[in-house]
Amino acid sequence: MSGANASHINTPDNTTETYFDFTEENYERINRILSKYPANYKQSGIIPMLDLAQRQAGGWLPLAAMDKVAKIVGVAPMRVYEVATFYTMFNREKVGKYFMQLCGTTPCMICGSEDIKRTIENHLGIKDGETTEDGLFTLREVECLGACANAPMIQMNDDYYECLTPKTTIELLEACKKGTPPPMGKWGSLPMNGQVSCEGPQGKTTLIEEPKAPPLREGGFSSFEKVDPATVKVHMGYGTYEETAVKAE
Ligand code: FES
Repeated sequence: MSGANASHINTPDNTTETYFDFTEENYERINRILSKYPANYKQSGIIPMLDLAQRQAGGWLPLAAMDKVAKIVGVAPMRVYEVATFYTMFNREKVGKYFMQLCGTTPCMICGSEDIKRTIENHLGIKDGETTEDGLFTLREVECLGACANAPMIQMNDDYYECLTPKTTIELLEACKKGTPPPMGKWGSLPMNGQVSCEGPQGKTTLIEEPKAPPLREGGFSSFEKVDPATVKVHMGYGTYEETAVKAE
């Protein structure tokens, strides 16, 4: 795993001699990426190119792919290795078709991530950091993935599955085994308890109608004279000259 070991260990399918080249389609993407940067700052494209390489290789980043990126941007391979070993989004060892990142940070832990972890481990027969023998699933426990409102949750490849229970976790795993993971929800992630977003068990309780803006002085902001701190409340529509310090002057 990327975070576990910063050094490379040769395996039969991952040495400097292993063949890797981008597809034609990805070379077109690379050209678009590099066109965003001045010619002498090509290395700014290292991260998006590594991401492309990882997607092309099936979710992991062979050494030869990093070398290819270094060659394209014209830097020493070590400069690319430094990036790939720093960011945990890059997997430098093979992962399963469904790469599960289980959040174990405090809000998720309080809401039951340990149960979700046990459920996955028992159901698939793997431990944290391992891949199933059929190459379908890899489990990795990670820190907060920013979906704490819908804890506990996992990230499966690019997608978030939230508000998990042991039961819905098993349903999710079984759906993946059949090659049909549930489609994402309206907001790009899927709370597995029927919520649409992060509205909580009581449903929507705030901002249920269009909020009313405070009344604006006639003419609005643009026709007003220069704003100074003493009159800023007037400019913001929260008061009148009569109610502010301006009157006292
Ligand atoms: S603590 Fe799990 S997503 Fe933030």
